[in-house]
Formats: sequence, structure tokens, C-alpha cells
Amino acid sequence: MKNILIINGPNLNMLGKRDPKIYGSETYDDLLNKIAKKSDELGVKTEVFQSNHEGALVDRIQDALTDGTDALIINAGAYTHYSYAIHDALEILSIPKVEVHISDVENREDFRKISVITAVCTSRIIGMGTDGYLMAMEEVAKL
Ligand code: DQA
Repeated sequence: MKNILIINGPNLNMLGKRDPKIYGSETYDDLLNKIAKKSDELGVKTEVFQSNHEGALVDRIQDALTDGTDALIINAGAYTHYSYAIHDALEILSIPKVEVHISDVENREDFRKISVITAVCTSRIIGMGTDGYLMAMEEVAKL
């Protein structure tokens, strides 16, 4: 069975409390339930890890080198825009890596148009709401 690791960065645990016009009204638990349902549908094993701390995110990415993770899906939140530590950790991992953003980061503030992790990911899904995670799961499950 394929092992998928989904990593969520800072403030994603606040879904449901963030601006609903940008992030929708689903809570983080709703997202976890959607992911669990999709995981069953696809017949994959999915772990979701969330942290508000850059170092914890780097540690979890590093652990994916040896823990049997077959594919990684990451929404690094605001770290996307400036964390070279997360960039460097992702660079070491040679498995499919999908960058996901709930909102359309290309059509928001200028600082959100910069992603320092796109170059070390294999694909990118933005602006599809939380369905973006499900699309990423479908994509990596097929590989
Ligand atoms: C986000 C977009 C980021 O700019 C923001 O800092 C987030 C969420 C998204 O999913 O749309 O926290 O990654």
C-alpha cells in the first residue's frame, strides 16, 4: 500500500477561523475527514502532520527519507514564501512532492506570488480550495 504524507504548515490548523472568502468555511477537522475518506477510496495510507514551527516541519520532511513515505503533499503556509530551510529539506527527498495552496496565491498580495519551494516540488495545485489536497492525492496515488 502506498504511503502518502501530507504536511501542513502554520495556521492551517486554524481553517474555519480564517477569512472564509479566501479559505472557505471548512474547519481543519473537516479537511482531515475529507482526506481520510479519499485515502480509503484510493486505497492508500495517509498521514497528516501539521505544525506551526519551521524546525518541526523540517524534522518531519527529513524523517520521510527513511520512514517509507512514497509521496509527499505539502502546504507550507506562509513558510512557502521564505523558508529556505524547508526548501533545502525538500530538495533532499527524491519522491513525488506536490505543493498545495488552498487559495490562489498568484492573485493575492505580491509576497504570496513568491514560492521558494516550487523549484523542489514535482507539481503544484493552487486555488482549488481544500479539494486541492484531494487532487494531489489522486495525482500521487496514480504514480
Ligand atoms: C496558503 C497561502 C499562504 O500564503 C498562507 O500564508 C497560508 C495558506 C494557502 O493554502 O492558500 O497560510 O498556503
